[in-house]
Amino acid sequence: MRMKKFSVTIAGGGSTYTPGIVKLLLNNLDKFPLRQLKLYDNDKERQDIVADACEIIVKEMAPEVSFTTTTDPEEGFSDIDFVMAHIRVGKYAMREKDEKIPLKYDVIGQETCGPGGIAYGMRSIPGVLEILDYMEKYSPEAWMLNYSNPAAIVAEATRKLRPNSKILNICDMPVGIESRMAKAIGLKSRKEMDVRYYGLNHFGWWTDIRDKEGNDLKPRIIEYVKEHGYDVGDHHDASWQHTFQIAKDVQALDSETLPNTYLKYYMYGDQEVAHTDKNYTRANMVMEGREKNVFSECNRIVEAGTSEGTNLKAGDHASYIVDLARAIAYNTHERMLLIVENKGAINNFEETAMVEIPCLVGANGYEPLAQGNIPRFQKGLMEQQVAVEKLVVEAYIEKSYQKLLQALTVSKTVPNAEIAKQILDELIEANKDFWPELH
Ligand code: NAD
Ligand code: G6P
Ligand code: MN
Repeated sequence: MRMKKFSVTIAGGGSTYTPGIVKLLLNNLDKFPLRQLKLYDNDKERQDIVADACEIIVKEMAPEVSFTTTTDPEEGFSDIDFVMAHIRVGKYAMREKDEKIPLKYDVIGQETCGPGGIAYGMRSIPGVLEILDYMEKYSPEAWMLNYSNPAAIVAEATRKLRPNSKILNICDMPVGIESRMAKAIGLKSRKEMDVRYYGLNHFGWWTDIRDKEGNDLKPRIIEYVKEHGYDVGDHHDASWQHTFQIAKDVQALDSETLPNTYLKYYMYGDQEVAHTDKNYTRANMVMEGREKNVFSECNRIVEAGTSEGTNLKAGDHASYIVDLARAIAYNTHERMLLIVENKGAINNFEETAMVEIPCLVGANGYEPLAQGNIPRFQKGLMEQQVAVEKLVVEAYIEKSYQKLLQALTVSKTVPNAEIAKQILDELIEANKDFWPELH
C-alpha cells in the first residue's frame, strides 16, 4: 500500500525552532511522508529570515515537497492535515519583561512558572485560539499539535473555550528528561522504557519506569539522580546544566518518585532568585545565543545559496512531534505523555484539571491511562498550581482584575498578596498591547 502523503503547517514559522523541525521532518519522510510544508507567522520580516533558508534546505533535501511561506491565514491553513504550533505572542521582548518584572520583587521570573508564566498565558490564549480558529475554518479535519507555551494555561483555555477542537497539547521536557534517564543507566534510547507519570505541565513526577520486559528501572535511575540529578555530562548551556543538577534536591523531597525539573521553581524559589542575574535573564541568553545563531546561520545559507556545511541540525529532541503526528496518521497507539483533561485518570484530583499523563494516541485522538490515587504531597502542590492556571483562564474570559490578582496570590512563587498586586500592576502596564482590559 502506498503511504498517504501529508500536508503540514508550522505556525510560528519565524521560531528559532523552525529550521530544526523542518530538517527533522525531511529526515523522516520515510516514516511520515509529506507532500506539502507551509510556514505561517504573523511577522513577515522575522519569518522571512528563517523561511528563505528553509526553502533552500527543502529544495536540497526533498525537492518534491511543495514549500510555501505566508502570513495570510487562508493560504497558511488551507489544505492541511496537521498544524505544528509553536508561537510566542509578544516574542522575546515580552519574555524578557515576564522574567524581569517579578525578579524586581525577588519573585521567580520565568517563561512558564509564576507571574511570568501567568503574563505569557494571558498573551498566548488569544494567539493560540486565533490559529486554532483559522485551522478549523480552512481545514476542519486537521489536527493541531500545540507546544506553544505556557502549555498548561493554553490547554486549560482551549478545554474551556474550544472543547470540541482537535488540538493536542504536548511538552518536550518529559521526553528530554527521559532521554537523560536512559543515558544515565546506559540504555540506547528512552524508547526502551515504559513510564508512568502524573502531574500538570512543567509540574509532574515519574512513578514507574520499566524496560520492555517489565523489569523495574526506577531504583537505578533514582540512585543516579540522587548523586547527579539529571546531569549526564552533555549539556553545554550553563543555565540548563544548573537545572539538571539541582533536580537532585527536588528528588530528595520524595524518594519514591522522579521529578520534572520545573518543580525547582516552586520548591527552591528563593535559591533560584538568589543566583539569577536580574539584569540578564534567560530571554537575554536566548536572544544572544539561540536566536542570534539560528538567524545568522539562516542569513549565511541564503547568501551562499546552499545549506552545505550548515550547523543547523535536525531538532531530534523534537522527534516526539513526528511521533505524535504519526500516531494520529497511522493509528499507532503509541504511548505518549499529553496534557489532557483529567476526567478521573488521577482518581483523587479535580475532574476538569488539565493534567499531564500517559495516553495511547491513535487516529481518533487519545485514550488516557488511569494513574489511580496520588499522595498528599503531590496532590497539595498540584491543587495550588491548578488553581493558578484555572484562575488565569477565568480572568481572561471574564476580563477580571480580581481573578488575575487571585491567580498571582495563589502561586507558590509569590510570597504575599501585596507583592502579587505590585507585580500584577506592572505586568498590566507592560502587556497593554496584548491583554484584554481588566476591570
Ligand atoms: P520565537 O519567538 O523564536 O518564535 C515564535 C514565533 O511565533 C515568532 O516568529 C513570532 O512572530 C510568532 N508569532 C507570535 N504570535 C503569533 C501569532 N499570533 N500567529 C502566528 N505567529 C505568531 O520563539 P521560540 O523560542 O522559538 O519558541 C516558540 C514557542 O515554542 C514558545 O511558545 C515556546 O515557549 C515554545 N516551546 C515549547 C516547548 C514545549 O515543550 N512545549 C519547547 C520549546 C519551545
Ligand atoms: C523546555 C520546556 C519548554 C520551554 C523551553 C525553554 O524545552 O519544555 O516548554 O519553552 O524549555 O527553553 P529556552 O531555551 O527557550 O529557555
Ligand atoms: Mn514544555
